[in-house]
Amino acid sequence: MSKLISVAMLQKLREFFRKFPEIELGNITLRDMRMSDQNAYYKYLNHPMVNQYLSDEDIPATEQEALECVKMWGSLFYKRQGIFWTIAETSTDKLIGSIGLSSWNFFNRRAEISYDIDHEYWGQGIATKALSNVLKIAFKDMMLYRIEARTMTGNAASQHILNKFGFKKEGALRGYRIIREVPEDIYMYALIQPDYPEILLHS
Ligand SMILES: CC(C)(COP(=O)(O)OP(=O)(O)OC[C@H]1O[C@@H](n2cnc3c(N)ncnc32)[C@H](O)[C@@H]1OP(=O)(O)O)[C@@H](O)C(=O)NCCC(=O)NCCS
Repeated sequence: MSKLISVAMLQKLREFFRKFPEIELGNITLRDMRMSDQNAYYKYLNHPMVNQYLSDEDIPATEQEALECVKMWGSLFYKRQGIFWTIAETSTDKLIGSIGLSSWNFFNRRAEISYDIDHEYWGQGIATKALSNVLKIAFKDMMLYRIEARTMTGNAASQHILNKFGFKKEGALRGYRIIREVPEDIYMYALIQPDYPEILLHS
């Protein structure tokens, strides 16, 4: 067994995967993805203000494809391959975004974070609130050491948020994402656990 993964860590991970962690955060709730999220998921990701930063493969072309995506992201936790939350408006339970950790590499204790918010809810601190809580879970409960984020070079809002949490820009990956048939560069950002303020872990 890798020295990085102790028996105690394995036990903690087993605990984590016992029950999906739903988190109520006032105006928003991070909850399990459901098949009933299909329509809202399809609509918000197909809006040009949101999908300008997404690969074609991340945008459901039909409502049926949206259902497949919701099922796929929703199953990550139950397959112990990562975790994806619906960001729901607490008052209506409607999906207004999503956030999650995928490409989880268990032995190297790293994963990739992704998040998107319905454009009608931008600028209300929702991504910041969701990310802050997901980072705590990632470091404390999933015991990740490194969290990666890939963002389009022109995505200033996302980079601003990553900077706020101490992510460091590590370089550019050329032609990494095909956006409407045009290969685009992205920045690789990462946050490693020692750089994450202890105070935020316990806040
Ligand atoms: C990036 C995104 C998730 C932000 O969601 P949000 O809920 O509006 O984010 P918040 O309100 O928590 O924070 C936005 C911050 O970015 C800042 N911001 C917004 N537009 C900006 C811009 N063009 N340049 C720099 N900063 C910007 C805001 O001022 C705010 O900063 P503050 O917290 O210091 O006040 C949302 O815009 C989105 O879904 N974009 C499309 C998809 C996407 O880019 N996903 C991420 C892929 S890596």
